[in-house]
Amino acid sequence: MSHPTTNLSHPGLFITFEGLDGSGKTTQLRLLGDALQTGGHRIVTLRQPGGTPLGDRIRSILLDSRSDADLGAIIPEAEMALMFADRAQSLRRIILPALAAGSIVLCDRYTDSSEAYQGAGRGLGSDRILTLHRAVCNNVLPDLTILLLPPLSTSLRRARGRNDRTARRLGADENRFEREDDQFYNRVYKQYCEIAERDSGRVVVFPGEAPIATLHQRILDVVRQRLAAAGLAGPP
Ligand code: TMP
Repeated sequence: MSHPTTNLSHPGLFITFEGLDGSGKTTQLRLLGDALQTGGHRIVTLRQPGGTPLGDRIRSILLDSRSDADLGAIIPEAEMALMFADRAQSLRRIILPALAAGSIVLCDRYTDSSEAYQGAGRGLGSDRILTLHRAVCNNVLPDLTILLLPPLSTSLRRARGRNDRTARRLGADENRFEREDDQFYNRVYKQYCEIAERDSGRVVVFPGEAPIATLHQRILDVVRQRLAAAGLAGPP
């Protein structure tokens, strides 16, 4: 089944970062935001789930590994619906207004994450995710998606180590997904590859490992091309 990649027209640019936990996307999003801001662009950054008061509550429910014990095991459909409740809120409250004002929106995860994690990881299937995306998000898609795909083993090592450290230091626990087994992450990884193949005009894949600064430069080159094509090239 093919899924149309229609989009709204707006004066801004909507860029999402995707990848497994530990793929380095959050670091790269920050570096890109800094570079674009230095170049004179107006930037809005956010992450999903989170970014709105409602989204922050949803994030703490979905990412805290104690939630399943505290609330009763969260079923995959509830997890999927909560991800979209968060997305509906941040789309209307933050993303669309920022795009309408001509800003560049950098969003750490979006619907591709739901397709990879809930659709493939949890086994709910892409069609259900994309149907919900059309119903809840009016099928608003990013103009550009940066997909970071270092080897699965690298991402998992980084993510699991990082969250153990964070939990020890802050008592903050965002380990609920990191506790999933390698098979779950294998399905997530494969789904990301399928999304990239299907939506090759929107999704630019950065496979393998590269030093942070090298990868940043490559991402910046791609983004600059898109900005120029959209007539948004910043001051020299
Ligand atoms: P992150 O902010 O560190 O990337 O963590 C967010 C976690 O939430 C990550 O494990 C992926 C997961 N997630 C989903 O499962 N589905 C979604 O739609 C989104 C946005 C995130």
